[in-house]
Amino acid sequence: MSVLVTGGAGYIGSHVVRLLQNRGDKVVVVDNLSNGIQDRIGAATLVQIDLASETATKTLVETMRAHEVTAVIHFAALKQVGESVARPEWYFQQNIGGLANLLTAMHEAQVNRLVFSSSAATYGMPDVPAVSEEILCEPINPYGQTKLIGEWMVANAATAWGLRGANLRYFNVAGAGWPELADTAVANLVPIVFAALRAGKSPKVFGTDYPTVDGTCVRDYVHVLDLAEAHLSALDYLEQDNRPHSTFNVGTGQGSSVLEVLAQVRLTTGINFEADLQPRRAGDPPSLAADVTRIRETLGWSASRNLKDIIDSAWAAIS
Ligand code: WQD
Repeated sequence: MSVLVTGGAGYIGSHVVRLLQNRGDKVVVVDNLSNGIQDRIGAATLVQIDLASETATKTLVETMRAHEVTAVIHFAALKQVGESVARPEWYFQQNIGGLANLLTAMHEAQVNRLVFSSSAATYGMPDVPAVSEEILCEPINPYGQTKLIGEWMVANAATAWGLRGANLRYFNVAGAGWPELADTAVANLVPIVFAALRAGKSPKVFGTDYPTVDGTCVRDYVHVLDLAEAHLSALDYLEQDNRPHSTFNVGTGQGSSVLEVLAQVRLTTGINFEADLQPRRAGDPPSLAADVTRIRETLGWSASRNLKDIIDSAWAAIS
């Protein structure tokens, strides 16, 4: 298989690139290196362009033809909720414009398999402990909206010209499959906690009065290597003629509270820190975990790593 991976130099994308390389697939990476790191992609060819730029479609068509690409995995996007609220037009221009250019190029180059990075942010604030793909999506920020619109664009291309698409809705991704591919951004709970510890500070806990097991928010933390493996399962699924579903949750099905994450961090690091208990952060759903029935039954994928594996691997990568 010859696979074009947009955002392949990023944290999640580079894990998928490595798995593809390990199984012998040919990989070409398209990345603007705004957050990506070239060293992460090994021997893969890098095409350094901004997907949302005017010339992107032409370059993509040429790249797909030159490398005889048969499938695309699309990671390249902006992904910070707060930033999306502050700069919504930029998020729409990058995430929607980039995907429009990519789909246009795929149609022209006759590449009709796509795995699309979607997000649990498409759900908004669902009032159920385990979210199934069937519930109504009501994203509450521009980031989540761009992901939901992206799913619609994939569906429209399927109807219009026969694209085979799979949308993977990621829950809370963390950990590292290889130390050098670890998340270098300090934007989510696990890297934020480690950054606080390294600075000799107490990690903050946003909200202790939620209706959860211990009052703190519950999330479904999925190991980045499990998530990466789900992409390969999705790619293989697209090869089948009978594909009853196009959207899959990717999580473990198990929620962990913020205090449970911190307890594991104490165990892993041996650092006996205090938590800095804070008021609730705006816009946090109390509890969000994936119903993983569909991906297990349809793709035969389920997570094989737990919270300990996630925290151990993230800590090993920075120690
Ligand atoms: C996790 C939990 C915080 C920092 C976001 C996006 C979502 C998805 C994943 C991509 C929450 C708590 C955090 C801290 C804390 N992204 N927390 N102290 O908000 O669940 O999801 O990232 O698709 O779309 O919204 O992730 O890592 O920010 O927070 O107590 O210093 O940790 O309140 O309960 P979130 P997060």
